[in-house]
Amino acid sequence: MLASRSSIGLQTPRGPVFHFTHKTTTTKRRTLVALAAAPADADDVFENVFDPSYLGLTQGPIAAPSVPALESIDAASSVVTASAAGAASTASSPDPASISSAASTLVDSVDSVAADLFPAVSNVVSLLPEPIQGVVSTIVNDVVGLATLHPTIEGGLRLFAIYYLLFARPSPLVAALDFYVLRPLSKLTGAKFSENDFTIRDRLGNGNYGQVYEGLRTQKNGVPDLKTRELTPEQKQRRVVLKKTNLDREGIRRNFLGAGTMARGAAETGVVEDYLCSRMAAHPLVKPYMAEYLGSFIAETFQGNFTLGSQWLVWKFETDSTLGDALGGMLGAFPESLGPLVLGQRKSEALAESDPVKRDALVIKAVMAKLFKAMEKMHSLGIVHRDIKPDNILITQQGGVKIIDFGAACDMSTGINFNPLYGMLDPRYSAPEEVIMPKTFPSAPVPLLAALAAPIAWQYGRPDLFDTYSAGIVMLQMAVPQLRSQQGQRGFNQALAQCDYDLARWRNASVMAQRCDFELLDRQGGAGWDLVCRLVREKNQYNRGRLSASGALRHRYFTLPDL
Ligand SMILES: Nc1ncnc2c1ncn2[C@@H]1O[C@H](COP(=O)(O)OP(=O)(O)O)[C@@H](O)[C@H]1O
Ligand SMILES: [Mg+2]
Repeated sequence: MLASRSSIGLQTPRGPVFHFTHKTTTTKRRTLVALAAAPADADDVFENVFDPSYLGLTQGPIAAPSVPALESIDAASSVVTASAAGAASTASSPDPASISSAASTLVDSVDSVAADLFPAVSNVVSLLPEPIQGVVSTIVNDVVGLATLHPTIEGGLRLFAIYYLLFARPSPLVAALDFYVLRPLSKLTGAKFSENDFTIRDRLGNGNYGQVYEGLRTQKNGVPDLKTRELTPEQKQRRVVLKKTNLDREGIRRNFLGAGTMARGAAETGVVEDYLCSRMAAHPLVKPYMAEYLGSFIAETFQGNFTLGSQWLVWKFETDSTLGDALGGMLGAFPESLGPLVLGQRKSEALAESDPVKRDALVIKAVMAKLFKAMEKMHSLGIVHRDIKPDNILITQQGGVKIIDFGAACDMSTGINFNPLYGMLDPRYSAPEEVIMPKTFPSAPVPLLAALAAPIAWQYGRPDLFDTYSAGIVMLQMAVPQLRSQQGQRGFNQALAQCDYDLARWRNASVMAQRCDFELLDRQGGAGWDLVCRLVREKNQYNRGRLSASGALRHRYFTLPDL
């Protein structure tokens, strides 16, 4: 059963940020982020990586490293071992001369192995087709140079460029491929839907989400489904969620995504959510943490809710339960209502008998661990959600956690939906800085430049910490019953702001905190309390000081066993 939800204004008196309310018919929304200019020499570096002039391969059979070279390594190792043994025997006076000569023998041996290995690797590389051969051989040369302690400046720069483009987070290469290759490809090859493919059943929510519906995908034989209350198991397989955005007056700018800017109006918000969901669906490591996205279409006829020109986004119907439903008591008393789902029926029942407090603590820990994992994956692509809250967190029947509702999200790896001056936020869960990057940060350039600058921009502004603040509030609400009601949360937010977002100070000073029950956070030497204190706090002047999703997962709250 889906919970009823109450509306909440997005306006807040805090700070000089402009708050947008995109009155899309689907929901009240907020907006976006920032981008840095690409380093001036980025293109040069990129070109040099592919410079084939570094080729210098010998053709021929693959040679194995020579025995003498391997022997010399052995010899060097034994010298090192011997000198170490000697050092141990004389305990206080190791012989520096023998250690240094052993080290230089070892370096010589590495050189000699590299010299023998190099032709072998070269021969393998020579089997590759041009121009890949040239690129790979250059990189091999660079790696060998580095490994044998004879790096060249150009080689080092090239390796750094490769590291930056491929492995820095968010990866510029992945972002550019997603935007310029995968996106057009999936538009060409992805499933094509129309209004005839779906039957709408119910609205989800009680009016505030009037434009999100539950529906069924039409059967393969095209026979429409009768409107029955109960669904057959076969129909449950075809259950979907449909989100409608009307084409508003703003319309959709031509090539709006390619402009590297933020959405203006409902229709563009729909385009952004479509792009982000398609992007995440293409990454196997990220996909399991989001609702399965099926695609979008524009209605071409009038059929009930399918008004002409309306834009529809479609997901698999994942579950009847959001974390908001669970916290609101719609699934039974919290947190035990989630016990069977996230801990398993048997463990949950056993703990209910032996140690219900531990059961509650484990439920919260399991949900938070999965939420941070999901956020870690999302952030690795450069996506900042900006609307992390219990209503946007699904708890599946298998006990999984999925994040939904990317209408307010922005993609820092391409600058899509980012503007440094605008914040979209739900004041109940928003971090005090209200925007994800410093307001002085430049606006987003075109996606290619944004992608090149993304790792630098990310490290500079740490936009992901906006989401981890919200996750901290979610954790507090799960663990402290007095903070779950709207009134409780409002009082808490006000008092926390008065304490300059210092949670420890709030706990000591506020009257409300004296009535709160912190038992679940104080277990294990206060590990849970320590974690929320590292999340629910202001960013410092270096845009840091709050834990990231990965940092939270390394906190002792998760790593120490709960005894
Ligand atoms: N894939 C899904 N499976 C099940 N329920 C969903 C799914 N997507 C959305 N919902 C339900 O619909 C509600 C509204 O969806 P959401 O994407 O958050 O739209 P809105 O922009 O209106 O907040 C959610 O709170 C959740 O209850
Ligand atoms: Mg929502």
